Amino acid sequence: MTGPTRDFWKERFATGTTPWNRGEPNPQLAQWIAAGTLAPGHAVIVPGCGHGWEVAALARAGMHVTGIDFAANALELCGRILERESLGAQLVDADVLHWRPEAPVDVIFEQTCLCALYPDFWQRYAAQLHAWLKPGGKLLALFLQALRAEAAHGFIDGPPYHCDINAMRALFPATQWEWPKPPYPQVVNTGIERTELAVVLIRK
Ligand SMILES: C[S@@+](CC[C@H](N)C(=O)[O-])C[C@H]1O[C@@H](n2cnc3c(N)ncnc32)[C@H](O)[C@@H]1O
Repeated sequence: MTGPTRDFWKERFATGTTPWNRGEPNPQLAQWIAAGTLAPGHAVIVPGCGHGWEVAALARAGMHVTGIDFAANALELCGRILERESLGAQLVDADVLHWRPEAPVDVIFEQTCLCALYPDFWQRYAAQLHAWLKPGGKLLALFLQALRAEAAHGFIDGPPYHCDINAMRALFPATQWEWPKPPYPQVVNTGIERTELAVVLIRK
């Protein structure tokens, strides 16, 4: 497999080498709840959920949450965060490139899973996200901006792999997704000294 393997990610969690971990939910999540973009009763998938601060925050806000990760030790950490507050969520040990929900959902919260996948797998992942959502469902995307100087020479470096906005438009084409007009909010992640572009895409 090109790019990071399941063992690579398990090792990151086992050694606590998880600089992307905010130790709290992404602040954009509260913005989306305040705006009504996320609402109680929504069925939400969090692919590559990791520690799962967002899984817990969504469950706390009354949503039916499914967190997916293929690193079992990440899911254990997420389970502990849920347990602390007796929050309910479904945690699934699966590969996001193959897994399918029993029924399409209202919302996907995509935070640093796309940028964790080698770009060869992006089209497959985008097709998965499209298939997981109901028509009219929302993809809440936090596209990580991780451009490196080596890219000017053609090198693909990561993870995290840079989620360039032009690549995102090609990956989530306007024939399949409704795009809002820019500018998009920029959310800072100080742990990795990167920003995320917060974009709400509607599945057509
Ligand atoms: C950079 S971490 C982000 C974790 C979490 N979204 C966050 O922001 O804290 C990427 C996560 O995606 C998971 N992951 C990567 N590739 C995956 C795959 N093919 N299937 C399921 N999970 C995957 C990793 O195990 C890891 O937990």
